[in-house]
Amino acid sequence: MLKDNVLKKLNEQIQLEHYSANLYLAMASWCKANGLDGSAKFLYAHSSEEMMHMHKLFNYINETGSMALISAIDAPPTEYKDLREVFEKTFEHEKLVSTRINELVELTFGEKDFSSFNFLQWYVAEQHEEEALFMGILDRMDVIGFDGRGLYMVDKEIGKLAVVAPA
Ligand code: FEO
Repeated sequence: MLKDNVLKKLNEQIQLEHYSANLYLAMASWCKANGLDGSAKFLYAHSSEEMMHMHKLFNYINETGSMALISAIDAPPTEYKDLREVFEKTFEHEKLVSTRINELVELTFGEKDFSSFNFLQWYVAEQHEEEALFMGILDRMDVIGFDGRGLYMVDKEIGKLAVVAPA
């Protein structure tokens, strides 16, 4: 069984991962509505990845004999100025997720809950990858730029990064 404070924070992380999935799904919808099919494809696939992050936490909690919870999820924004803003927001969001994961790691270490500490190492590595991925997209935007056919090229490049999450 998990300690109450660890369980509470793990359940909050479920909620945040669930929100992440909805956020990226809503962004995919905005991209699709604006003719940005490559970005829509990428964000749609990334939404599935966030659901996998959520399920992984859910299963871990339940395996310990504690109870994973599904809580109310805030509706994500639906309007963006442009594609650059969409990906600036994804990067900001991933930095928030990393902060929360680091807080969880610190908590489990302090509580000597080494099983949860070990479980969370997967998320630590994953956040490193995700921050690098989204920062890389912003860098690509800077390199390609948005002049002329720039937006078309940027969108095409982002589409190539779409990875279908494992089931
Ligand atoms: Fe599950 Fe992108 O953090």
